[in-house]
Amino acid sequence: MFDETIDRSGTNALKLERYKEYKNAIPAWVADMDFKSPQCVINALKNCVEHGVFGYTAISDELTHAIMNFIKKEHNWNTSKEWFTFTSGVVASMNIVCGMLEANESAITTTPIYPYFLNAPKNMKRQVSTVRMREINNRWSIDFDEFEKSIKPNCRLILLCNPYNPGGTVFTKEELLKIGEIAIKHDLLICSDEIHADLVLDKNAKHIPIASLSSEIADRTITLMAPSKTFNIAGLQSSFVIIQNKKLKANFENSMGHINGGVNLLALTATKAAYENGAIWLREVKEYLRENLKLVQEFVRNNPKLKLLKLEATYLAWIDCHMLNVDAWQLFLKNGVILNDGKGFGDGGEGFVRLNFAMPRVVLKEVLTRMENAVRSI
Ligand SMILES: Cc1ncc(COP(=O)(O)O)c(C=O)c1O
Repeated sequence: MFDETIDRSGTNALKLERYKEYKNAIPAWVADMDFKSPQCVINALKNCVEHGVFGYTAISDELTHAIMNFIKKEHNWNTSKEWFTFTSGVVASMNIVCGMLEANESAITTTPIYPYFLNAPKNMKRQVSTVRMREINNRWSIDFDEFEKSIKPNCRLILLCNPYNPGGTVFTKEELLKIGEIAIKHDLLICSDEIHADLVLDKNAKHIPIASLSSEIADRTITLMAPSKTFNIAGLQSSFVIIQNKKLKANFENSMGHINGGVNLLALTATKAAYENGAIWLREVKEYLRENLKLVQEFVRNNPKLKLLKLEATYLAWIDCHMLNVDAWQLFLKNGVILNDGKGFGDGGEGFVRLNFAMPRVVLKEVLTRMENAVRSI
């Protein structure tokens, strides 16, 4: 099923449109998959479109229950209907969270990181301090002493990315407890972006929602989740926020006001279908991605000037190209592959590229061949 090469041209796919001047280059950058969404999602959308009336839409209990059941099964977290707020995107939610801070308060996060973690505080005119992720035992992690020392007196919020983009770390229970402990000690809120939670590829790793660890941590945590990466429906703009603490939830909703215009009918329809019936598809896509990851790892092994740490989750390989001593993003572009340039991911991102390997295997093989030729050409 995932071997099918689907022509996305003419669909306004961002992946193609942004670099359309590079006609024969293969896009392997923005984080969506070149696979069809689960058939249950396609069918639900068809039925919705056939009905033909697209009026204002309420959030149904069935939708919330489908999500709650899925989270219980996948992540062993018991949530409650009252904890949910629906939004049109995780980035939108993160901006809303930053807007909850007073003007003189700041946030802290780690870099390199998905760029919107740095943009969201700036958009809301709040400061953000950053701490570099460290290579610890061949895996990207946090030096917690350094992290704690970087917390400024006016800091009020930790922006956490788990699983981590880029780098693919799935934080362990011990690591998450440490973050929780720091948050409690310094009286910080935690905004935990868990959009990649369902895409854990390493069978020894397990995603743990940080809010599920203790009531004390849950009390100060805003969890951001979405079906968009999991079921490849990013273009539908659907996400939800889980906040157990009633006061915190009210603050979030006040900060949101009516700026986030709600989630559209098609997004809600797809979301419900995906969480109710998409689990088998998800298992299959993860198997496919695991095999693709093996190809990427083999490619890196064969090219000793490249380096890839252990990737536990996401379909995004964060490749260290420092040893090439050239502008790697440009090099790969010239050789027909469009990646993400590590520079855009903040401090520590320079010298890296991010490869999205969620594509049919024949296409990935061609991408890796072109990358291999690029490396050999210098
Ligand atoms: C960590 C992370 N958060 C958020 C997003 C985007 O979420 P949304 O499209 O719901 O705004 C992405 C997309 O790549 C991501 O990797």
